[in-house]
Amino acid sequence: MKISVVGCGYLGAVHAACMAKLGHEVVGVDVDQEKIDALAAGKAPFFEPGLPELLTETHASGRLRFTTDMDAIRDADVHFVCVGTPQQAGSFAADLTYVDTAFREVAARVKTGDVVVGKSTVPVGTAGRLAAELTAVVPGATLAWNPEFLREGFAVKDTLHPDRIVYGVTGGVGDATGEQTVTTLDAVYAGALAGGTPRIVTDFATAELVKVAANSFLATKISFINAMAELCEVAGGDVTQLADAIGHDNRIGRRFLNAGLGFGGGCLPKDIRAFMARAEELGADQAVSFLHEIDAINLRRRQRMVDLTAEVLGDQPVAGARVAVLGLAFKPNSDDTRDSPALDVAASLHALGARVVATDPEAVVNARRRVPGLEYVRTAEEAAAGADVVLLLTEWQQYRDLDPTALAELVAHRRILDGRNVLDPIAWRAAGWTYRALGRP
Ligand code: UDX
Repeated sequence: MKISVVGCGYLGAVHAACMAKLGHEVVGVDVDQEKIDALAAGKAPFFEPGLPELLTETHASGRLRFTTDMDAIRDADVHFVCVGTPQQAGSFAADLTYVDTAFREVAARVKTGDVVVGKSTVPVGTAGRLAAELTAVVPGATLAWNPEFLREGFAVKDTLHPDRIVYGVTGGVGDATGEQTVTTLDAVYAGALAGGTPRIVTDFATAELVKVAANSFLATKISFINAMAELCEVAGGDVTQLADAIGHDNRIGRRFLNAGLGFGGGCLPKDIRAFMARAEELGADQAVSFLHEIDAINLRRRQRMVDLTAEVLGDQPVAGARVAVLGLAFKPNSDDTRDSPALDVAASLHALGARVVATDPEAVVNARRRVPGLEYVRTAEEAAAGADVVLLLTEWQQYRDLDPTALAELVAHRRILDGRNVLDPIAWRAAGWTYRALGRP
């Protein structure tokens, strides 16, 4: 099939490459010349395991190209819109400027029979409005809403082998136009569906809600365990053991019960906030008012880490203390520092006058752009040299594997704060360290 992908950021670039991998002829379009130049040269403009190899392979196949020329989508029959929906400045609501612009540009170029597919995370009700706008311009074109659930770090795998595929179509199940759209999308995803991936057809509103409901549930799971961590801290319990014990109950499950600094990134925080804003517009704010608490618990963990740093420094003031920060990305295997808990903690300590020496295997460039004032170094050892306290804030494997005895030789004081509960307290204490963590005695 001939496919266009409009918006080649994180989602779009991965989606375009994966569509080519599934055998389609794909053109990716973006207004950002620099991004398009990189992608056209077969380079990923951000860190994502597996993507560089996939770009090389699909470029070589001749089925994938990138351009800034929007007219290139005219050849395609299915058009994916993958632009961002960031949080509006000064509000919880999503900024739909990019979505609205992209859909207008696409509608001006599609033909009868084409299917336009929204993948961006949008407030419920957006798809219905865009469908009406599209058919007002091209009556024979149809819209589908096909939310994306990919995780950074696993984006290629999640796109080629998703847990489920959701299509929101006009009129929902059984509607004739909707059924045609389903047939087209089944052909697009044939390669992925062949593996038995569940495929769920819904109306527009349900498809839009599936995405925000899934992210709200994940955020709730994380904040639930972090709330238990707060309890453990005052009662003297160990949240990691608590999570293991409750996680053995299949109804609960152990995944997404890792207590620590909480969630960040370009999705969960802004998606739950946009959901609250949209629910309020719909007069259903009570239904999701618990999300305010989820957000608040999440942000409290960052402050707790700052307070804990001051606590372990004892008589030594935070101002002037040398603080080694290991990890700046919002999670491992990513260079993304959007709403990163790690970077937030580092910036707060810097604002309190600490000398923060920070490192991350992939995220230093992005971190420096956001918080230029920190001292950035290449390795954990450089960061730890002369440190009064070491903070592990993003659980990259190489930080989990650090040797407490070797690191002890480099620091001024053996104090380590484990912001992700990934180190072995016994081993670190045995090597003479004061070990503290969130939610552990
Ligand atoms: C998330 C959703 O998982 C994905 O389905 C959706 O499409 C986009 O948002 P992503 O932002 O890539 O994906 O990250 P994810 O792996 O979900 O982690 C989100 C945050 O939660 C990270 O900051 C991570 O460190 C944190 N987290 C995750 C925890 O604090 N504890 C956990 O147990 C799991």
